Amino acid sequence: MTGEQPVGRISRRNFLGGASATAVLLGTGALNSGQAHALPPELGDPFTLGVASGDPLPDSVVLWTRLAPDPVAADGRGGMPPETFGVRYEVAEDREFGRIVRRGAAEATPELGHSVHPEVDGLRPGREYFYRFRAGRAVSPVGRTRTAPARGARVDRLRFALASCQAWVGGRYAAYRTMAEDDLDFVVHVGDYIYEGGGTRTLADFRLLHARYKGSEDLRAAHAAFAFVTTFDDHEVDNNWTGDVPQDDTPSFLELRANAFQAYYEHLPLRIGARPDGADMRLYRRFTFGDLLELTVLDTRQYRTDQADGRFIAPRDTDALDGDRTMTGAKQERWLLDGLAGSRARWNAIGQQTIMAFYDYDTSESVSINHDQWDGYAAARDRLLGFVAERRPSNVVVLSGDWHSSWVNDLKADFTDPGSETLATEFVGTSISSGCGWRDSVAAALGANPHVKFFDGDFRGYTRCTVTPAKWRTDYRVVNDPSDPAGPAFTLASFAVADGVAGARRLDTGDGISGEVTDADGGATLASVAVEARTPNGTVAGRGSTDPDGRYRLLVTPGDYEVVATAGSYRTASRAVTVPADGVAQVDLTLQRLTGAAAGIGKRLASSLAQASTEDIVIENGMLAMVVAAVTEDGQLRGTTRGKVLDMAIRGRADQLDWINVGYASATEPAGTEAWQQTTVRYDDVRVERPGPGSAAVRASGSATDFPALRVSTTYRIEPEQPWIVAESTFTNTGSAPITSWIGDSMDHDGAGQRSGVPGHGTITTPYGSPRHYEPTEPWIGQTGTDPQTYGLIYDDGYPGLTAQATGNWVLSQLRVDIPPAGSTTFTRRIVAVDNAGAIDPFAVLSELYRASR
Ligand SMILES: [Fe+2]
Repeated sequence: MTGEQPVGRISRRNFLGGASATAVLLGTGALNSGQAHALPPELGDPFTLGVASGDPLPDSVVLWTRLAPDPVAADGRGGMPPETFGVRYEVAEDREFGRIVRRGAAEATPELGHSVHPEVDGLRPGREYFYRFRAGRAVSPVGRTRTAPARGARVDRLRFALASCQAWVGGRYAAYRTMAEDDLDFVVHVGDYIYEGGGTRTLADFRLLHARYKGSEDLRAAHAAFAFVTTFDDHEVDNNWTGDVPQDDTPSFLELRANAFQAYYEHLPLRIGARPDGADMRLYRRFTFGDLLELTVLDTRQYRTDQADGRFIAPRDTDALDGDRTMTGAKQERWLLDGLAGSRARWNAIGQQTIMAFYDYDTSESVSINHDQWDGYAAARDRLLGFVAERRPSNVVVLSGDWHSSWVNDLKADFTDPGSETLATEFVGTSISSGCGWRDSVAAALGANPHVKFFDGDFRGYTRCTVTPAKWRTDYRVVNDPSDPAGPAFTLASFAVADGVAGARRLDTGDGISGEVTDADGGATLASVAVEARTPNGTVAGRGSTDPDGRYRLLVTPGDYEVVATAGSYRTASRAVTVPADGVAQVDLTLQRLTGAAAGIGKRLASSLAQASTEDIVIENGMLAMVVAAVTEDGQLRGTTRGKVLDMAIRGRADQLDWINVGYASATEPAGTEAWQQTTVRYDDVRVERPGPGSAAVRASGSATDFPALRVSTTYRIEPEQPWIVAESTFTNTGSAPITSWIGDSMDHDGAGQRSGVPGHGTITTPYGSPRHYEPTEPWIGQTGTDPQTYGLIYDDGYPGLTAQATGNWVLSQLRVDIPPAGSTTFTRRIVAVDNAGAIDPFAVLSELYRASR
C-alpha cells in the first residue's frame, strides 16, 4: 500500500511535512485504522531500544523500532499505554537528512508491543541510506542501511559479518562495538539472539528479555550501522527445542513458542512475511546480491525431527542415521534445493544454525557426536551434499553458529574418507559472547577429524566475509574479553576459498603473540597450558591456552610484554617480548616438571571447564594438580564453594570437573534430582597448611548448616609421586546432644560424554533426573567422559553402610553416622585423577588402586 496517509489525530501536514514523498504504512498488519494517537511527550524517550533495518532487497529494506519509554516495565509493555500510536519515518541519502527520499508512517499497536516494521520501497539498488523515526516530539537515533545490488548486476565486492550466540554479559558487547566500526554491507545473525532461562514463558517474559538485550549500547550500535538478516536457533525459544518438542516437559509448549516467536518478531527488523501466526512463523528466505552472492537463510528448528538422543555429546545413537530424519522439513528442503538449482550467483551461501560437518568427539573406534547438530540428522546432510555433488551449484559456502567457537570445515562427499571430494566449504562463526565449555572436548578430537581445517574455542567475536568474483575471504575477528567496553578486535585467522575450488586455505597467521610450549623433559609439546601476556605494570593484556599441538595465541597490541606460562604439575615459566608495529611476535616456552609437592596461589589450570582464579589454592605434585576454592564461587554451591574442589587434572591434561563437593553433613538423606547439590557444609577458613616440597597440605574448616553444633574440618594432603590427594574430614559434635547425620561427597564431571561409575554397577549413563541408589561392591565412586581421564573418590575401608546415588551426570556417596556429644567422626578418602588410556571399562583403574592399597 502506498500513498500519503494521515494517521489518527496527527494532521497530514505535520505528519509528512509537505514533502512529495511516498508514505508506506506497513508492518503492523493494521493499516491505517485511523485510531493512532500522537505519543504524549510525558511518557519519555520512546526510542530506548534503538533502531534497526533488515532484509535488504535491491529496492527496499524493512525498518524497525519499538516504542518503549520504560523498556523493562514488568508487564512487558515497555511503559506504553494500551493504545495505538503513530510513528513516522524518514529515509535520506545523507546522514544530515538534507536529501530525504522517502517519508512514511506506521501504526505502533499494543498487540505488537508498539513495534513497527515499515517496509520502504522505491529505493535505488546497492546504495547507502540513512533513516530515523519520530513519535510525538521524540526523534530516534539515526540508522544506516544499504540496499542489495540490482538482480543480475555485476558486483565486484560484498562484505558482511556473521554473528551468533550473544549470552548476556552485563551490557557491553565488545564484538558488536568493534563490528559497528567495521566496513560492512550487512550482518547475518544465525541465532541465540537471546538466552531464555528457566521460567521464560509468557509474552511479557520474552519481551523483557529482548528489551534487556537491546539495553546494550553496542548491540544497538551494530543494528544502527547495518541491515541485519536474522534467523533464530534454540535459545530464542527453549534450549534444544525441535518442532513442537521442548527439551524438558514444558507444559503447553506451543503457547510458549508462540510467545517467543512474537517477541522475536517484535524486536527484529523482519518483514511482514515473517509475522508469526500463533506458534507458526515463516523465517526461511533468500536474498540475491547481483551476480555475486545468493544468501539462503534457513530455519532448522521449527520443522525438524526431534533429536535422537537427549544428551548433547554422546556415543552416536543409531536413530541418528535414520533416513527419514530432517533438519528443515520436506517443504523447506525442496525450496532450498530448488533455490540452489536455480541460482545464477557465483557464490551460494547458506546461513543456518548448527555445525554441518561431521565431528567425531571420540578418538577411539566408537563414534560420539553432538545429536543436536547435523550429525544427528546425517540423512538430511547427505541429501543436501548429494544434491551439490550431482547438480553442481556454484561455490556453496555454509555459514553456521551455535557452537561458540571458530571452525573451517571441508564438507566432504564421504567424511570417513579424507581422500573423497570436498563439495562445499563451511565457516562456523564464534559466539558474540557465549562461553565454550566444550573447547577441550573438541580440541582433543581434532586429530580424528582431518576435514576440520581450523578450530578455536578460546575467543569470542564475529566473522567477516569478503566476497569477490575470484575469491571468498573469511576473517575471524575476535576480542579478548566479550564484555570489554574499550579493547580492539584482532584477526585470529584468515581463510580463502577460490572460485570453483571448494575448501578453504589459510591466508595468514593472524595478529598478536603466538608460540609453542614444550616439556623440558623430552621436548613434547604441551596442551592445556595457561599463557598470559602481562604489561610492564602487571596488567594481563591477553590470555589464552595451548591447543593439542602445544600452540597458543595472545591478542595484544604492539608493546612490551612478559609472556607467562603456567600449568598444573609444572613450574611457571616466562619470557619478555616486544611486539613490533606489525603486531606479530613469536615466543616459545619450555616448562620444567614439578618435583616434590606444592600448595599455593598464583597459578591457574588451563581448561575450558576450569573455573578457579589465581587467588584459589593449587595443590599439586608432578603427576596431578587440584584447585581448592579460596575465593571463587560456583553457582550451584553458592556460599559453600570455599574449601571444595573446583578444578583437577593430571599432568598435561585439561580439567574436566565442574566440582567435587568434599564433605556434606545433611540432617536428611539426600534425595531427588538435585540430591547432588549439597550445600550443608560451609568452610569459612581455607589456608595452605604446608606449602611443600616434602609434602603439601591445605586445610579448610567450618561448620554444618543443618547442625549448629557440628564443626567440620577437611585437610587435603599430597605427597610426591602419588596419583591422588588424601582428603580427611573430621566432623566434631561440640554440643551436648547426639547428632545423626548423612555425610559424604558429590562429584560433577562437566566434560563431553560424562558418565559415572559405581563398583558392581558398571558405567552409569542414565539421564539427568531420577537418580538411582546403588550398593557399591567396593568403596569408591568415579566419573569420566570422552577425555580418557578418570576421576574418583576411593574411601578407606571401615565405613560399612556407605552407599551411592548416581545418574550419568553426577555421583554422590552417603553414609549415616551417629556422633555423640563431644565426639567426632573422621572420614578419609583419596581424590584420584588417572589416565584410563581409553579402556573399555574406564573405572577399572579405580578398582585397581583400591585393591593395591588393601
Ligand atoms: Fe549459543
